[in-house]
Amino acid sequence: MKSLLRVLGAFLPALAAGPARAEPPPGLMLGSSWYPEQWPEERWDADLSRMQAAGLKLARIGEFAWSSIEPAEGRYTLDWMERAIAAARAHGIAVVIGTPTDAPPAWLTRSHPDTLRIDADGQRMEHGMRRQFSYSSATYRALCRDVVGQLARRFGHNPGVIAWQIDNEYTEDSFDPESRAQFHEWLRARYGSLGELNRRWGTAYWSEAYDAWDEIPMGTGRGNPGLMLDYKRFVTDTWRGFQKNQADVIRRYADPRQKITTNLGGLGWADRFNRRDVAADLDFISWDDYIGQGHLDPVRNGATDDLVRGWRRENFWVMELQPAFVDWAPISNALDPGETREVVWEDIGHGADAVAFWQWRSDLNGQEQYHGTLVGPDGEPVPLYAEAARTAAEMARAAAALAGSSPRSEVAILHDYDSRWAIDFHPQSTRYDQVGVLLDYYRGLRAAAQSVDIVDPRVRLEDYRLVAAPSLNVISKDVAARLEAYVRAGGHLVLGPRSGMKDAFNALNPERQPGPLAADLGGRVEQFYALLDDVPVSGEWGSGSATIWAEELSARAPDARVVLRYGAGNGWLDGRPAAVTRPLGRGTITYLGAVLDAPLMGSACAAWVRDAGAGGNTLAVPAGVEVCRRVGPAGEVFILLNHGSAPAHVGLREPLEDLLGGGAVREVGLPRHGVAVLLRRSAGAAPP
Ligand code: GLA
Repeated sequence: MKSLLRVLGAFLPALAAGPARAEPPPGLMLGSSWYPEQWPEERWDADLSRMQAAGLKLARIGEFAWSSIEPAEGRYTLDWMERAIAAARAHGIAVVIGTPTDAPPAWLTRSHPDTLRIDADGQRMEHGMRRQFSYSSATYRALCRDVVGQLARRFGHNPGVIAWQIDNEYTEDSFDPESRAQFHEWLRARYGSLGELNRRWGTAYWSEAYDAWDEIPMGTGRGNPGLMLDYKRFVTDTWRGFQKNQADVIRRYADPRQKITTNLGGLGWADRFNRRDVAADLDFISWDDYIGQGHLDPVRNGATDDLVRGWRRENFWVMELQPAFVDWAPISNALDPGETREVVWEDIGHGADAVAFWQWRSDLNGQEQYHGTLVGPDGEPVPLYAEAARTAAEMARAAAALAGSSPRSEVAILHDYDSRWAIDFHPQSTRYDQVGVLLDYYRGLRAAAQSVDIVDPRVRLEDYRLVAAPSLNVISKDVAARLEAYVRAGGHLVLGPRSGMKDAFNALNPERQPGPLAADLGGRVEQFYALLDDVPVSGEWGSGSATIWAEELSARAPDARVVLRYGAGNGWLDGRPAAVTRPLGRGTITYLGAVLDAPLMGSACAAWVRDAGAGGNTLAVPAGVEVCRRVGPAGEVFILLNHGSAPAHVGLREPLEDLLGGGAVREVGLPRHGVAVLLRRSAGAAPP
């Protein structure tokens, strides 16, 4: 009976209420993952003392400890965790408890084989490499609720615990019978009838028409566009249900002071599911920042931070950061001395309030023995330990000024998972890398405005003077109405290539691109072209070339203006419009139909920022130096980072408080990987 009740209780509706707003978690912290269950208890104090000596204030524990928490079904051993939390607290270290559901114990796999994930090829997982579970399994969700309920009852009011991380890097969907049945049920709830599903999916094509729900396949092979997009939405909802199943039981037993998050992996831009929707149901969001092979790409790393911040439009945590190197890259090289510190400060500059290294120390015989750590197999510091300690000390000095602050942007880039999926299902050109196209916009806009948000099209756009929407392939009628209202109210909208081609069911819009916004644009896309060779373009934003993708536009309304035109090239595009703009209401709508080379993209972005009157709060800095501005009660904090290969000198228009070096300065010298944290204190703000 218990197991039946458990199963019934566990399978909760996937859709959660709207975002749970919560006050921000405690101040600026540097920390590390720590696995006390992997070490003799007499070792703990030495580790925690070294963490404390380095200035670490945060430890994440538990996310792989299920076999230590529940060594046999229904038998819980939590006293060790209570002692570990108390020991951490005694060293001034706050604890995040990770729910242990990313690595189920062997007894669970043996007793409940129905919980095992089956991959798209029909291969059933087995024990031993973590993540072998099915995210849809009612039995697994019941067992998750039990173990998380035990943890929340025991530690939900523990003063040493400040947050809960649900699971660890949600990753694999499952093709087991339970998932399949749930997918069909999800479709039935969405469409109501097979007739409506067939109509929306256009299944007369190739005689695909379905006459039974259980005929419908799962996955995103070369299937029907409507089916594939709905499958990704189903995966999103299933992960939301998996997450809600645990969040509900934590919220039932834990102190509201203890915030709930999860750590999304996949280098940030993974699109296995809609990460913004998953993040909406939490108290705050975290991501795992790994560079892997090579070195910091500050544009990509900063943009990923801004993508993560944009999911909830609030600050976030970096729950995992490589301590110099990983163990899974083709070449797991080390970041340069000072480069790890540079990454931490760039993450903070883009809105991180906590950064935790993965991991403190390698288990002597686990699968990740070569991974970067802060102490070696002897438990003694490795070279990076001193860099971590320096960074923690700097964060302590800047914490008061940064408290309650966050980046403020007048410019936003729209990032839409439906559009990501729709284009990736049918790229038309293997060279069309949507993240790369978005980063082109980000690089140019960040250079011109020094702060850029990356947000979902459904957010409040009126906060921005300029909104750019590269590759906004799916534009539903609701999003179209929001974008039109934004422009008419005075916003400046730039639509990029491939925008407005599909409706919300991934079907072609009957109108030419930009579909429901074509009338507003006063122009349209006459034809799209995947390019083999670059095509020259020139106009108001400068001259250069279109590469990878080019759309022939037409300007049809009398007040629609061609601002960029193709030169002689592939014949179809010769002399035709590449970009069109038009005043609408109190704003403007612009469509750029081509991927542009970097220099021309930069001058186009600068023109957009100028014309929108954005970017007024910038600090003049030399090339290679990034400015990150966070605004809060203490004033404006400018985090300067020298990403260049040579030392840099930054002259300041006015004296600013040097939070790391002390005093007021009118200039700063930045070595390679150098960091400066400066404060323009607001009038009336208390002195440090
Ligand atoms: C992921 C996982 C961690 C660890 C690291 C190694 O982020 O969350 O458990 O495996 O990778 O880089």
